[in-house]
Amino acid sequence: MMKRKGIILAGGNGKRLYPSTISVSKQLMPVYDKPMIYYPLSVLMKAGIHEIMIITTPHDQAAFQHLLGDGRKWGIEITWAVQPSPDGLAQALIIAEDFLDGSLCALILGDNLFFGSEFDNALNAANHNPVGATVFGYHVNNPEAYGVAEIDHNRKVIAIEEKPEKPKSNYAITGLYLYDGHAPKYAKTITPSKRGELEITTLNQIYLDRGELNCALLGEGTSWLDTGTHKSLLQAAEFVHLMEYRQGRRICCPEVIAYQQKWISKDELLKLAEPLRKSGYGEYLYKIAHSVS
Ligand code: TTP
Repeated sequence: MMKRKGIILAGGNGKRLYPSTISVSKQLMPVYDKPMIYYPLSVLMKAGIHEIMIITTPHDQAAFQHLLGDGRKWGIEITWAVQPSPDGLAQALIIAEDFLDGSLCALILGDNLFFGSEFDNALNAANHNPVGATVFGYHVNNPEAYGVAEIDHNRKVIAIEEKPEKPKSNYAITGLYLYDGHAPKYAKTITPSKRGELEITTLNQIYLDRGELNCALLGEGTSWLDTGTHKSLLQAAEFVHLMEYRQGRRICCPEVIAYQQKWISKDELLKLAEPLRKSGYGEYLYKIAHSVS
């Protein structure tokens, strides 16, 4: 399989979470027991991606670096980049061009939370496809807030519209996009939209026009939450709390995934647990390190 690199887009204004996000990046806000960026990071790590570029605003970069460093403690390699102003999601591909160096990539938004084995399977399947682009559609109540896929009776995408007033389906395009090596080149051809952004929907449209856009529809076995408003952030925190409390297992812990991927040893996991011990999160890492399976 060709190597796929990861990009986490964690810039933006976070204005819908003001005043909380005036001095702290949205993607550093907690979602129950861990910083938001742990969730998209854990998606990439679970998919076996360990070369990851994290794009932040210029003024938030230091705080992210304080949290994650160069990623080596989790067996991954983080490359840092900034987006000077929030000029749109497709700009990530241009910023990451040298880092990608022609390889396949997975772009994930820093405020998206995915969970479920159905999702893991869908991502693994798409991960093995080196051709074109893959987006993931998810049935939502409020499609008008997202990019929306119009789907024919064979479940093939025939059109995508950004935040349509009259959505043609309930399938929102989620914040995870897989691209072949041409994405930076295509992204450079995009001109800013009416709202002044390089739209990811336009990039996906380029793939659609080429007959190279796959859309994997995620069903009931997947939870997809975004965390951009006070209400959705609270709902995401409640979801994580509920899952973890009920199962006695924490979800989307990068340390645990690194251990399961055998990117770090038991001793290294124990070392990561030590300074976190008071929070319960560290206790959980201890438990994992000492568990048999
Ligand atoms: P949004 O939620 O669309 O934007 P935002 O985070 O700036 O929030 P608000 O609308 O409240 O001001 O962004 C989705 C994700 O993409 C989020 O994780 C931030 C990120 N993003 C960038 O990194 N750069 C950009 O240019 C844009 C538009 C978003």
